[in-house]
Amino acid sequence: MARKFFVGGNFKMNGSKESIKEIVEALNTLEIPDSVEVVISPPALYVHWAALHLTNPKVAIAAQNAFPQISGAYTGEISAPQIKDVGAEWVILGHSERRTIIKEADDFIAEKTMHALKHEVGVILCVGELLEEREAGKTLAVVFRQLDAVTDKVSDWSNIVVAYEPVWAIGTGLAATPEDAEAVHDDIRKHLAEKIGKEQADGVRIIYGGSVNGANAKTFNSCPDIDGYLVGGASLKPEFKDIILSRQ
Ligand code: PGA
Repeated sequence: MARKFFVGGNFKMNGSKESIKEIVEALNTLEIPDSVEVVISPPALYVHWAALHLTNPKVAIAAQNAFPQISGAYTGEISAPQIKDVGAEWVILGHSERRTIIKEADDFIAEKTMHALKHEVGVILCVGELLEEREAGKTLAVVFRQLDAVTDKVSDWSNIVVAYEPVWAIGTGLAATPEDAEAVHDDIRKHLAEKIGKEQADGVRIIYGGSVNGANAKTFNSCPDIDGYLVGGASLKPEFKDIILSRQ
C-alpha cells in the first residue's frame, strides 16, 4: 500500500508574526508534488495567523498540544474543536519535550489522542527513547509502551501519523543513521500489526524526527518504513523546502 510522504514542521516555541508569515509565504509559492503532504506547527498563538496567510492547499496546520475536553475551566489549555475553528487540522501529541519537561504521562497522551481523533483532528503521535534507555537496550520496550497506551484506547489509526523521535537525536545535530531508524520503524510497524491488525499497520505513516535537515533527508530515501519526517530546527529555515522535496 502506498503511503503518502509526510513532512511535518514543528516550530516549537519559536517565531513571531513576522517570521511565521515569511515561512508560510515561502510555502505558498513552493510547488509541492501531489505525493507529498506538508503540515506546519506554529505555537498555539500563531495557528490562526498561519491559517490566515496560508494559500497552498498542499500544506496544513497542526497545533502542538490539545487538552482532552472541548471547553471549560482549564486555564492555559486549548481544545481540538478550537484548533479546528481557527483553521488547523492536526495536533502534535506526545512530543518528548512534553513528556519529559511537562511530565505528560502515556495515559494522558493516549486520552488526548482519543479526544483529538473524536473531534476530527489528525494526530502526529510522537514516541521515542532517551539516550540512557537506548544504552540500556530498552528502545523497543519504551516505544512499544508509549504506543500501547494508545492502541489500548484507539482502534482506528487512519488519522494517526506516528513520529519516531529518539530523544538523543532531537536538536543535537546527531540524527539516527538510516539503518538504525529503519530498524526501529520496521519493528514499530510489526508491533502495530499485532495490536491493530496488519492492514491498518501497513497504512500508518511512520515518520522519523531528530536532526533532520536539508542535507541528510535524502539519506533516508531507501528506507521502506520511513514515510517522512518531523522536522524541528530546520523547519524554521529555508532548507525546509529541500526536506519537502527530498523524496523525488
Ligand atoms: P529537531 O527536532 O529537528 O530540531 O531535532 C525534531 C522534533 O523535536 O520534532
